[in-house]
Amino acid sequence: MKKILVIHGPNLNLLGKRETDVYGHITLEEINKQIGKLADELGVSVDYFQSNSEGELVSEIQKTMGNYEALVINPGAYTHTSIALRDAVAGAGTPTVEVHLSNIYQREDFRKKSMLADVAVGQITGFRVDSYLLGLRAAANLIR
Ligand code: DQA
Repeated sequence: MKKILVIHGPNLNLLGKRETDVYGHITLEEINKQIGKLADELGVSVDYFQSNSEGELVSEIQKTMGNYEALVINPGAYTHTSIALRDAVAGAGTPTVEVHLSNIYQREDFRKKSMLADVAVGQITGFRVDSYLLGLRAAANLIR
């Protein structure tokens, strides 16, 4: 079975409690549950990883090499700052879909720049949990 890694970046462990006006009331556990259900339907296997630490996220992206066929990542605030995450995605060469719960282009100017956008295959932004589900579908189709 094809393997896809889903990575959640900083502060996403607080979903459901954090800025609910922007991110909604869904928790990370519920998001992962919905991803798992869709993965079963699509016939792919998924692992999940969340970290608040940039270095841990870099290491996890590196681990996709040879171990996963695709990566779905919500890099959280590191989206806008992290050359290290960008280099990890470019270096690993694992087909990557960037996802965001909120529409990063409708918010503050500093969120309008993604360091990962041009090393990802594509980006899905603004559909709350559906961003992950659409991202998983896209990733599964990429590796079919
Ligand atoms: C986010 C958008 C980022 O700007 C923010 O820092 C996040 C979440 C999103 O999913 O909408 O933590 O990636």
